[in-house]
Amino acid sequence: MKFYTFLVIITTFCSLLSKVYSLTNVTNSYSFVLSCGATSNATDADGRIWSPDSTYFPSSSGNSITSKAKYQDPSLISDIPYMTARIFKNQTTYSFPVSPKSRHWIRLHFYPSSYDNFNCSSSFFSVNIAGFTLLNNFSASITAQALTQAYIIREFTLVPLQTSTLNITFTPSSAYNDSFAFINGIEIVSMPEIFEPAPMVGFSDQTTETQASSMQTMFRLNVGGQYIPANNDSSLGRIWYDDAPYLFGASFGITSAANNSMKISYPSNLTNYIAPEDVYRTARTMGPNADVNRNYNLTWIFQVDTNFTYLVRLHFCDFQMKRMNQRVFKVFLNNQTALEEADVIGWSSAQNVPAYKDFVIYQTGDDDMWVALHPTDETKAQFYDAILNGLEIFKINDTKGNLAGPNPVPSPPLAAADTDSQSKPAFASNKTSKKGIIVGSVAGMTAGLSIVVVVLACVKRRKNINNGGNKSSRGGWLPIYSSRSTETRTIISGKSSGSSHISNIGGGLCRYFTLAEIKQGTKNFDESRVIGVGGFGKVYRGEIDGGTMVAIKRANPSSEQGLHEFQTEIELLSKLRHRHLVSLIGACEENDEMILVYDYMANGTLREHLYKHNKPPLSWKQRLDICIGAARGLHYLHTGARYTIIHRDVKTTNILVDDKWVAKVSDFGLSKTGPNLQQTHVSTMVKGSFGYLDPEYFRRQQLTEKSDVYSFGVVLFEVLSGRPALNASLPKEQVSLADWALHCHRKNTTMELMDPHIKGEIIEECLKQFIDTAVSCLSDHGTDRPSMGSVLWNLEYCLQLQSDPDEPKMVAEQKANDAYAMHKELLTVAEEGKESAEDSTDTVFSQIVNPQGR
Ligand SMILES: *[C@@H]1O[C@H](CO)[C@@H](O)[C@H](O)[C@H]1NC(C)=O
Ligand SMILES: *[C@@H]1O[C@H](CO)[C@@H](O)[C@H](O)[C@H]1NC(C)=O
Ligand SMILES: *[C@@H]1O[C@H](CO)[C@@H](O)[C@H](O)[C@H]1NC(C)=O
Ligand SMILES: *[C@@H]1O[C@H](CO)[C@@H](O)[C@H](O)[C@H]1NC(C)=O
Ligand SMILES: *[C@@H]1O[C@H](CO)[C@@H](O)[C@H](O)[C@H]1NC(C)=O
Ligand SMILES: *[C@@H]1O[C@H](CO)[C@@H](O)[C@H](O)[C@H]1NC(C)=O
Ligand SMILES: *[C@@H]1O[C@H](CO)[C@@H](O)[C@H](O)[C@H]1NC(C)=O
Ligand SMILES: *[C@@H]1O[C@H](CO)[C@@H](O)[C@H](O)[C@H]1NC(C)=O
Ligand SMILES: *[C@@H]1O[C@H](CO)[C@@H](O)[C@H](O)[C@H]1NC(C)=O
Ligand SMILES: *[C@@H]1O[C@H](CO)[C@@H](O)[C@H](O)[C@H]1NC(C)=O
Ligand SMILES: *[C@@H]1O[C@H](CO)[C@@H](O)[C@H](O)[C@H]1NC(C)=O
Ligand SMILES: *[C@@H]1O[C@H](CO)[C@@H](O)[C@H](O)[C@H]1NC(C)=O
Repeated sequence: MKFYTFLVIITTFCSLLSKVYSLTNVTNSYSFVLSCGATSNATDADGRIWSPDSTYFPSSSGNSITSKAKYQDPSLISDIPYMTARIFKNQTTYSFPVSPKSRHWIRLHFYPSSYDNFNCSSSFFSVNIAGFTLLNNFSASITAQALTQAYIIREFTLVPLQTSTLNITFTPSSAYNDSFAFINGIEIVSMPEIFEPAPMVGFSDQTTETQASSMQTMFRLNVGGQYIPANNDSSLGRIWYDDAPYLFGASFGITSAANNSMKISYPSNLTNYIAPEDVYRTARTMGPNADVNRNYNLTWIFQVDTNFTYLVRLHFCDFQMKRMNQRVFKVFLNNQTALEEADVIGWSSAQNVPAYKDFVIYQTGDDDMWVALHPTDETKAQFYDAILNGLEIFKINDTKGNLAGPNPVPSPPLAAADTDSQSKPAFASNKTSKKGIIVGSVAGMTAGLSIVVVVLACVKRRKNINNGGNKSSRGGWLPIYSSRSTETRTIISGKSSGSSHISNIGGGLCRYFTLAEIKQGTKNFDESRVIGVGGFGKVYRGEIDGGTMVAIKRANPSSEQGLHEFQTEIELLSKLRHRHLVSLIGACEENDEMILVYDYMANGTLREHLYKHNKPPLSWKQRLDICIGAARGLHYLHTGARYTIIHRDVKTTNILVDDKWVAKVSDFGLSKTGPNLQQTHVSTMVKGSFGYLDPEYFRRQQLTEKSDVYSFGVVLFEVLSGRPALNASLPKEQVSLADWALHCHRKNTTMELMDPHIKGEIIEECLKQFIDTAVSCLSDHGTDRPSMGSVLWNLEYCLQLQSDPDEPKMVAEQKANDAYAMHKELLTVAEEGKESAEDSTDTVFSQIVNPQGR
């Protein structure tokens, strides 16, 4: 008996030892970070050094070509390692000296551009390492297009090879005549063994030997937190993305972060190789209201390749609860219960102690993987809530050692948008810029538009209710957001005129026009009546009801892209009524025509009053009034509606002015996502206009309302300086207004920026306040930018300083107390009487004042 106990202790000790050993063998870690085709060491935007690859490239196989990309996509923040490539016409192998016992991360970076005479759209190839197929018939070009990314990172974790050479073989596909392989960057990082047998969901008695397998990283998310760049990971060079884009449904819980003073204490059998502290410091929970939580699942959806087995790793760390059975929840994977009673404190036995749980699940049928959390009833826990801090999904190699899935299929609207690029002046039209976002992704499907996705989810849900969930009532192309089974293409099929659809939208707020009425009102689309050409088509001045002036927007019927924007605009606008948003009066759907009818804005765009149109210059006070109006409109979009709406294309041509000089925000064509939830990646196109684009949106693929704040900052400087956001005819450092303004601000020379027409008019404090506000809008990080509400407050304050330079001292004191409270007062005084009546926005105000109220 004693002997037996002894044995148990010994075995436990040994297994513990081996675990600790493998996890702590850090000193021997090494990495290769190679920029292929480069000739010298170079540093990327994150500060990592990339070395040339030639050393690892056998000189015997002399058939590779090094080349520089012909074109740098504007969304490439770093030209290292992407602007150089190595191209292979024939099968070629890289060899690296490695430790035979170590697992490795392999990261492959691809930038599918044009290199010399090589056009990457004809490149199909496979990549193999020691019997594992990482990629097969891989087209970086198609993949990038489908994911709307400029470049692609594929990350794999490779089992210990038991040999001291790691060979990576690139093989151009033989199915295509001119095929070639290419690679821009390779990373090989030795890593501790962080995998262990994991239970199969639905077969609780079975485990999968993940240690014997190689895997591809599909998703790696810092749930409830922010993007963590490679050099902030715990020395394994992993990138962690924001989880928001993958959230499903209208309720997505709340995010929280551990106090700075709290220390994350890893338990003895866990190191930060599992995940860096930052992952555990932030979390998403369901929220404080048990009744709300009872009625929803906190759900994420991921697009994965079917017929593969996946390892799902959930990271937990509770920094709010202290005892067991305070927060206990269920975990569902693909609607199957993976965990009945998850109690984070129960596992880790203390606050701030990380833990993780692995599950293995085989994906059949659908390519959507569902991960959902819901509180457990059984244990009668103190709080009815759930928590998650991090999430990783790995694809496990199949029995043949294969990891390669098919190339993704670019969605029809994207393909259409690619061919249809001429008609649109905005950034969206630019073919090259379309692939904007750097998801940089290990992620398969990507994102960018969580919130608007949520909008669509709401819209969709409500629509189903309206229609009684009856799909057959969806004949025309207007009520979109088809169910998962309905294809995008079918939307166009019902071409018959269907006024019923339009009147359904927006609870009957949207009026239906016949084509005859529209033709009459525009003198059959007379060219002389064109008042603008937008991303969507031409805008005409027209008359309806015998004299009422309207703006009539006519879509280019051939553009499916336009179709979606059209639909979005109807959906959004017909529900939004606000003094500072351009009102949609109605729409016309007939003979393939897509026509929207708006209020006529007699004074045109803000831009034409600032420069180039020889209109009398606006006074400083007029300018401030317009900025305040536009800020109100945007603030309403962000917080006032039932869901957050991100405009995505804030600029001076989208701020219109009516005959009474009331500013209104227009053009919601871009504030949208794809046609249905499945195709959320449609939304990831970086849209917007050059000169106004949030650099963080570019870099991090996180679209938040702070992207609008950035663009609005550019608008503020445009208003102050009376020059365009981009002016290529100026000296280089002045081309971008945003950069130039920040430069001037740093150098204290903002006077140089000012429009000479208003120089004498501005009171100094007002100017200072205005510039401070605009500068803060242009902060590099979204989190450092003020909310639109706070921008609005500051502009109102500017206006007070300008009109009443002595009075606002009191205001300044109040400001220090609470911007929101103050804001409420300003709003109540300035708006409640006149606006809430005509725009029925009173509910809105209560929500503005109480941001939790939505
Ligand atoms: C390039 O960088 C590597 C790794 O950082 C370093 O070992 C090497 O000496 C560098 N080479 C040159 C030429 O600077
Ligand atoms: C590729 O290999 C084939 C034979 O395997 C050879 O005929 C051809 O010349 C090679 N191409 C290049 C570019 O080296
Ligand atoms: C761990 O370290 C030992 C010696 O310190 C070394 O022999 C061994 O190869 C290392 N293992 C790995 C996986 O790097
Ligand atoms: C590359 O090939 C594709 C398809 O053949 C073509 O559409 C595209 O214009 C080409 N790009 C360049 C830069 O030649
Ligand atoms: C790696 O490739 C080199 C040359 O191509 C070859 O000599 C060596 O045997 C290969 N090693 C392994 C483990 O495949
Ligand atoms: C490759 O080229 C040959 C001769 O030029 C042609 O007969 C063949 O059909 C081509 N194959 C493909 C897949 O394009
Ligand atoms: C670490 O230890 C705890 C308790 O001793 C155990 O529940 C947990 O599974 C262990 N984690 C790992 C990764 O071994
Ligand atoms: C997955 O496997 C099923 C059954 O073998 C097959 O019908 C289906 O086409 C496969 N799906 C894919 C995407 O390969
Ligand atoms: C999970 O359930 C939801 C709602 O019932 C359903 O829409 C979805 O398709 C299911 N997902 C899977 C992977 O079965
Ligand atoms: C949560 O998901 C599970 C599994 O799909 C499902 O059975 C349950 O009904 C869902 N609960 C809610 C409130 O949606
Ligand atoms: C992954 O591939 C390895 C080697 O081919 C094999 O031993 C292992 O069983 C595979 N994993 C799975 C889950 O099939
Ligand atoms: C290779 O990929 C292309 C594009 O996805 C596809 O059309 C083709 O059928 C694939 N070829 C093979 C042999 O799988």
